[in-house]
Amino acid sequence: MTRIAVIGGGRIGEALIAGLLESGRASKDLVAVETAAPRAEFLGERFGIRVTGSIADAATAADLLVIAVKPHDVDAVLTELGKAELDNDRDQVLVSLAAGVPTARLESKMPAGFPVVRVMPNTPMLVGQGMSVLASGRYAKPEQLQQVSEVLEAVGKVVTVPESQMDAVTAVSGSGPAYFFLVVEAMVEAGVGLGLSRDVATQLVGQTMLGSAALLDESGQDAAELRAAVTSPAGTTAAAVRELERGAVRSAFWEALHAAKRRSVEQGSTAE
Ligand SMILES: NC(=O)c1ccc[n+]([C@@H]2O[C@H](COP(=O)([O-])OP(=O)(O)OC[C@H]3O[C@@H](n4cnc5c(N)ncnc54)[C@H](OP(=O)(O)O)[C@@H]3O)[C@@H](O)[C@H]2O)c1
Repeated sequence: MTRIAVIGGGRIGEALIAGLLESGRASKDLVAVETAAPRAEFLGERFGIRVTGSIADAATAADLLVIAVKPHDVDAVLTELGKAELDNDRDQVLVSLAAGVPTARLESKMPAGFPVVRVMPNTPMLVGQGMSVLASGRYAKPEQLQQVSEVLEAVGKVVTVPESQMDAVTAVSGSGPAYFFLVVEAMVEAGVGLGLSRDVATQLVGQTMLGSAALLDESGQDAAELRAAVTSPAGTTAAAVRELERGAVRSAFWEALHAAKRRSVEQGSTAE
């Protein structure tokens, strides 16, 4: 079984550890590295795994070195990894979940030719329904990419793209949950405006979103077909959709996702 070291036991690191242990993709020899003492204690108690403060110690014995710290802490982690006994003959892979940190930058701080895979996760990973998008660095072999993909399937779905598409991915699935929550907020407010209690409006919108997502996933139909199926001629849905089109919803999403991509490009260039 793949031996995994998760460096950074915050929200994403914890979600990954939980998914790996629950799905049986990792055993209790999984190691977490966490510098915050209360957090380290919590992780050790919750999962019964070894939690250490030493990156070099954890990394030396692991096959997959998973970085799950904030982007501004990545350099410090790479410096510590530089002190570990890593070499390319051991088939180790560095996996980074840090937003906006390119593989070339990770590779430049690792031993020459070290395999690196970059991942853009999203927050539904916290409930095992994440969308993880992988991009391979220059030296990761296809079987190593596959190994990383299988590990991340423990916490949701996985797709692989060329790294040049990672800013677009950030705009779509990385930031995507926030657009969804904004739509939920807006529908709840409108429901309250129509006289429903906040509690009832929240339940109606939440279950409608959950059910619609499941229908999209399971029906094999695309979103336009499913929308047409609830839009009877001259009916209530048609009246509502006309107002949404008048409010330029499609164009707002177009502009919003382009703005997110531009911001991702800017942040990546300043992260160098
Ligand atoms: N697309 C998305 O929506 C999305 C969502 C979530 C996360 N992410 C990415 O996932 C990564 C993790 O995010 P997160 O929310 O889980 O972050 P987080 O909650 O801040 O967790 C990071 C943890 O790592 C610890 N840490 C910092 N430096 C360390 C080091 N040198 N060695 C060991 N542990 C260290 C931190 O401790 P301290 O608190 O003491 O610093 C913290 O407990 C980020 O890079 C983020 O870009 C993306």
